[in-house]
Amino acid sequence: MSDFVHRYGTWPASTDAPLVLLHGFPLDSRMWTTVIGELPELPVIAVDLPGFGKASDAETPGGLEGFADALAQALADEGVQRAVVAGLSMGGYVAMALAQSHPQMLAGIGLLDTKASADAPEARANRLDVAQRALGDEGAAVVAPMIEALVGPTTAAHRPEVVAQLREWLAQAPPAGIARAQRAMAARVDRHAVLERLGSRQLPALVLRGSEDALATGDDHQKMAQALGTDVVSIEGAGHMSALEDPVPVAAALGELYRRAEA
Ligand code: MLT
Repeated sequence: MSDFVHRYGTWPASTDAPLVLLHGFPLDSRMWTTVIGELPELPVIAVDLPGFGKASDAETPGGLEGFADALAQALADEGVQRAVVAGLSMGGYVAMALAQSHPQMLAGIGLLDTKASADAPEARANRLDVAQRALGDEGAAVVAPMIEALVGPTTAAHRPEVVAQLREWLAQAPPAGIARAQRAMAARVDRHAVLERLGSRQLPALVLRGSEDALATGDDHQKMAQALGTDVVSIEGAGHMSALEDPVPVAAALGELYRRAEA
């Protein structure tokens, strides 16, 4: 087993499609710990994407498509040919890239606090600037200000332990991973048409949004849900990091997606 692919939960002998969780930027698979703890009955894999966690040294060419290929290969190495793949934010971008290049792998898809659109030119330029600064003197400090946008005002006011944990993880983010991921995200393409194809296959889908998400809008989520033929699940009082801010209802929504995919 690759050391950046982490297995949890219950694995019956006949499992052919686990739940695979993909983390947001610039975190790693640890962000799913509490969600996973709520799903002990499911076969779950949490992956460190290239450049992060135990995959800090992984080299993958080709932007988010390269991340998706590396994921498909890592899962195949685990004997996993199909999975319910759920990603938060950057993890969602990778899930959508996987849906484009390896659609047969998907038994279901979960898109949490993410968007299917490409970046506007200013956002792209900002990402390339952050990438360059991460590789310079600033290192991981370049992502520290993200904390303001990552959690919603309710979490900022009432859940200091979540803010402290996130601050610690931002400080630990590998500079090379920050740079690679920012460049990959800057180059990403619009994937609404990919979601429409999944929708026409009636693939079990979840679109979930923290109601206070400041980085992916309600409109972003509505468009994804419409393409997939589903509704948006809203987590009230959570921001962009819904899975960290309010893990219990997020786990419940993922469990429900999994059961739909199994049926
Ligand atoms: C994330 O949480 O993964 C990031 O906000 C993704 C992004 O920068 O678009």
